[in-house]
Amino acid sequence: MPSILIIDDEPGIRKTLGDILEDEQYTVWRAEDAFAGFDIIEREPIRLVFLDVLLPHMGGIEALEKLRSRWAELEVVMISGHATIDMAVRAVKLGAFDFLEKPLSLNRVLTVCRNALTVSKLRRENHALKKNISSDHEIIGNSQGIQHIREVIHQVAPTDARVLITGENGSGKELVARAIHTNSARADKPFVELNCAAIPDTLIESELFGHEKGAFTDALKMRKGRFEAADNGTLFFDEIGDMSLNAQAKVLRAIQEQRIERLGSEKSLDINVRILAATNKDLEKACAEGRFRHDLFFRLNVIPLYIPPLRERSEDITLLLFHFLKEFDVEQVQFDDEALQLLYSYSWPGNIRELRNCAERIAIMHQGGVIGKEEIADFLQSRRLGKAQVSLHNELFELPYAQAKDMFEKQYLEFQVAQHQGDIRRTAETIGMHLTSLQGKLKKHGGKGRWGQGLLG
Ligand SMILES: Nc1ncnc2c1ncn2[C@@H]1O[C@H](COP(=O)(O)OP(=O)(O)OP(=O)(O)O)[C@@H](O)[C@H]1O
Ligand SMILES: [Mg+2]
Repeated sequence: MPSILIIDDEPGIRKTLGDILEDEQYTVWRAEDAFAGFDIIEREPIRLVFLDVLLPHMGGIEALEKLRSRWAELEVVMISGHATIDMAVRAVKLGAFDFLEKPLSLNRVLTVCRNALTVSKLRRENHALKKNISSDHEIIGNSQGIQHIREVIHQVAPTDARVLITGENGSGKELVARAIHTNSARADKPFVELNCAAIPDTLIESELFGHEKGAFTDALKMRKGRFEAADNGTLFFDEIGDMSLNAQAKVLRAIQEQRIERLGSEKSLDINVRILAATNKDLEKACAEGRFRHDLFFRLNVIPLYIPPLRERSEDITLLLFHFLKEFDVEQVQFDDEALQLLYSYSWPGNIRELRNCAERIAIMHQGGVIGKEEIADFLQSRRLGKAQVSLHNELFELPYAQAKDMFEKQYLEFQVAQHQGDIRRTAETIGMHLTSLQGKLKKHGGKGRWGQGLLG
């Protein structure tokens, strides 16, 4: 049964509405404000959200906009009191599925819920179909580097061989992982991704293997882990270099034994997953330094696949640029020689992702006519950095990785918190970080920066 989330600050509504839905066998999650709701959506397969119009911290309308832009396949039903029906109507115009008036009527709740879930299902099916036929997974490029990658994908996809994909940020690691899955016999089975950098070490085990109800304090329901979710399909460990040694040991065991146990369960489950992994770090070095297990590295690195950075395959730049422009519905556009020169000579630190962002900005801002150098220069990442940041940038490259990462993190967070006038909840929300981990990081960096000690909460 699909999972449903209720976001309402009134405990009474959370209880009544939740009970009604649970009686119908839906899995129900409850949150008292939008931020707590987003956290749940990140973790759980939520299909439908009941969203109150009047909420503390972030109002229902703003929350709706966030939901629509970040989780477009979710349906949202607004809940409103008499005074806010105007707003609820406006919400429907903004993409909410419908609105329910307080006090809630049982019949209406169930009808709206059923309809919304049907629409959500159709939407997802439609999306999946489109994804298959569209060029979403198409790997563009004629350079030798890309041709080689296409060949390797072609060779290894049909096998169950583990592939370790390496390359800089934005170079296309995830795209390649998806291409391997799509071209394999497992294509119609799940492709499950786990971003090892995004999950705190305390949660990783339950994330990987799932847990039984009651396995630990917060385990209110049984939950499948990613291994189980990927059964018969592909499990993609993204940013594997960030996985803790503790988690590495567990993953290694699961791979070797091809079986797992949910936390709090004695029963072993046989699993059949193909493992792909990606990293932008030097894992061999990490092994030498004792931060990554040799035995796991050898298991994952059966087929190494390195994606060269864009600056080493500049012949792909225009091809990719026109491909992305077309994706953004720009068909007719011309660049002058200087502009092209800049595109070729630029170092593209953000690789294809940066190029794609650049194309998107061109699509939005361009007024017609021939595009010149200046027009593009504004859109390039490193050109936009201020002087201070550029010097920081150079300094960063002189440091050992751990220190560079630390320094970047500090500066980045300082900047972001300042951008949000010290509002840490908002900052966490916009930069896509859990509130608790942001608080932890701010504490770690001493809280002496621009955000000041008082805001650490
Ligand atoms: N050769 C390519 N052809 C078309 N699109 C590409 C190509 N390579 C990358 N892209 C696109 O560029 C963006 C970044 O790619 P992707 O997310 O796969 O990179 P990544 O290496 O996983 O990045 P990160 O290290 O930041 O996780 C995506 O939108 C992807 O579809
Ligand atoms: Mg990636």
